[in-house]
Amino acid sequence: MSTSMNTEHLISSLRSVEIGLPDVAATEKFFVDTWHLDVAVRTNDIVYLRGTGADHHLIALRHSDAPALYAITLKATSSMALDTIAELTMRHGGRVLQTKHAVQDPAGGEAITIIDPQGRVLKIVHGDVRHDGCVPDAPHNADKPIRLAHAVLNSVDVAAAMPFYEKVLGFKLSDRTKIMAFIRIPQGEKTNGFGDHHSIALADADNNCLNHIAFVMPTLESVMRGGGRMRDAGFEIEWGPGRHGPGDNAFNYFVGPAGFVIEYTAEVEQVDDSYVVRGPADWKWPVGRVDQWGISAPPSSKLKQAQREISFIKP
Ligand SMILES: [Fe+2]
Repeated sequence: MSTSMNTEHLISSLRSVEIGLPDVAATEKFFVDTWHLDVAVRTNDIVYLRGTGADHHLIALRHSDAPALYAITLKATSSMALDTIAELTMRHGGRVLQTKHAVQDPAGGEAITIIDPQGRVLKIVHGDVRHDGCVPDAPHNADKPIRLAHAVLNSVDVAAAMPFYEKVLGFKLSDRTKIMAFIRIPQGEKTNGFGDHHSIALADADNNCLNHIAFVMPTLESVMRGGGRMRDAGFEIEWGPGRHGPGDNAFNYFVGPAGFVIEYTAEVEQVDDSYVVRGPADWKWPVGRVDQWGISAPPSSKLKQAQREISFIKP
């Protein structure tokens, strides 16, 4: 197998994150009552929470003494893609923690578990359960997350982290700012050939922690109402409302239970292969601005601190 093989067909989407925290019951209550996910399945030790889209779940909650990130799960396009990704993982400095196996969680399917060269645990799954009859646009779903938008992962060396995502998982660079590399799934789930501007971003940092997890809301209005709902529940908007440069998405950021940074977002730019990559020199804000609207104060110090607190578990 050539190391320069085309890997763009291997991954189809970002599905879910699996997190550990001390109080699963309280966190479930938050994610259902305030964040507006629904319980897909609850087992003895893990709660699986879904959005209104087809993904079986978007978050799995399990107990751990300290908040931790167990895995980020991506969907593969085929069973054979899992084999290819496993082989490429070993060629590009990662490790295969679990070879292809039948998944024991309620989403099922088959999967491999890999770890990238900087210690991020990734589950790649194929053939998992999908929900039928989803109507995210229905009025009763107007304030519910549909699916994950993206995960942003800090990196002590973004340039060193990037090749794994490009050469093993087939991600493609959409934009590079002074602080972040936005990467997309080029042949993932598309509408008329267009897909999300990014599904992962690697953020320049002095750590490899979780920066944040973003959820797609149906509309800009629902991002706004979500901000109000969170404030009612005692969670201040730590950054937002605003609209990003790269990705052009509207946002509200919060520090959620156990210190996980979560984002409501909408209107993520849809791009195709003709998208022209821009660099740090192209993405400059005027003095005093860090988003397109300029309504919100910059990210709070509480948010910035939370974005460096939660690490992947060491398997
Ligand atoms: Fe984000």
